[in-house]
Amino acid sequence: MKISKTMQSALNNQISLEANASNSYLAMASWCEFTGYEGGASFFYAQSDEERTHMLKIVHYLNNLGVAAVIPATKIPASNYKSLESVLKTALSSEQAVTSAIHKMVEIAQKERDHSTYAFLEWFVNEQVQEEAKFETLIQKFELIGRDKLAINEIDKILAADATVSADTAA
Ligand code: FEO
Repeated sequence: MKISKTMQSALNNQISLEANASNSYLAMASWCEFTGYEGGASFFYAQSDEERTHMLKIVHYLNNLGVAAVIPATKIPASNYKSLESVLKTALSSEQAVTSAIHKMVEIAQKERDHSTYAFLEWFVNEQVQEEAKFETLIQKFELIGRDKLAINEIDKILAADATVSADTAA
């Protein structure tokens, strides 16, 4: 089975997006750890690992089709944030960009009647729905609980719990 050059290049571009997302979440985790947000650190270290698995799914998909996957260089991620809330908002924008790239690939697959890639991408479409919802819910906590020190400490605990749930699901 062959996939088009357009689709090959879109998938290779997606490898790059997932690699950059992984790197960027790693930088967020490190900032959280350094700043004292232990929950945020666990959450984003886990999130970084998750993005690496997304990248690997595409690497394996291409290589198994006989198309050499391109392992990209990654950009230097932002390493300084003004608050835990701004970290989460940056993460949500990054997820929205990834979602739109995935939707574009789905459109290419539909147009080219590439049923295999279409089926392969279904997992990513669903994953993005969950990811965006997760970040939106976490960002809402600042409105619901507040932004003072105690509230942020509470939100950090919520992030710690979420990191544990994700680790259990991945296991
Ligand atoms: Fe792999 Fe969260 O996008």
